[in-house]
Amino acid sequence: MDEPSLFDEPSPDPPPDSLAELRQAAAGCTNCDLYRHAIQTVFGAGPQGARLMLVGEQPGDREDVEGEPFVGPAGRLLDQALVEAGIDRDLVYVTNAVKHFKFAPRGKRRIHATPKAEEIRACRPWLDGEIAAVRPAVVAALGATAAKVLLGPSFRVSKQRGEVVERDGLRLTATIHPSAILRGPPEQREVAFADLVDDLRGIAALL
Ligand code: URA
Repeated sequence: MDEPSLFDEPSPDPPPDSLAELRQAAAGCTNCDLYRHAIQTVFGAGPQGARLMLVGEQPGDREDVEGEPFVGPAGRLLDQALVEAGIDRDLVYVTNAVKHFKFAPRGKRRIHATPKAEEIRACRPWLDGEIAAVRPAVVAALGATAAKVLLGPSFRVSKQRGEVVERDGLRLTATIHPSAILRGPPEQREVAFADLVDDLRGIAALL
């Protein structure tokens, strides 16, 4: 049977509308079981009035430790790409579709595990709340998980990156996740990075 759609499900109860209240409420989130093993909720970061919101999949190991999104290796690559694209990260609201780190223990290491549809759905009220509170002009998904949440289950980043959909006064778009560059073949990294920068330039031009 197909997994239930993330896109068509209405959000559960609406969350509070100020970012500070949302953040506080999300810190105690038990909507799914991921809170049991993660260190903390990693809520979004950036100015409440940001015009651009970037949405990743879920915090990684470093983010879980620091409590901030995109501060590990993928975050550093994203920072470089933003600089090259002429986007000031301090003006961007950066968040994730899932706010707790999901991992599988391997020895002393915690290895990223892909969140399930029900975990993504359980986290959806926080992302909806962030979008409502920040009111960005453009929301860009980084990678497949966030793209499916924002643009629908049939959205394919590999084929549709850079497409723009207008909904509820927002422009929604998607590009690849910086982790895909880090995980990909080293000989393709330079080109993949340049493509990400190009996409980010296109996103900046929507603002
Ligand atoms: N990958 C993500 O999707 N988000 C983060 O915050 C870090 C890595």
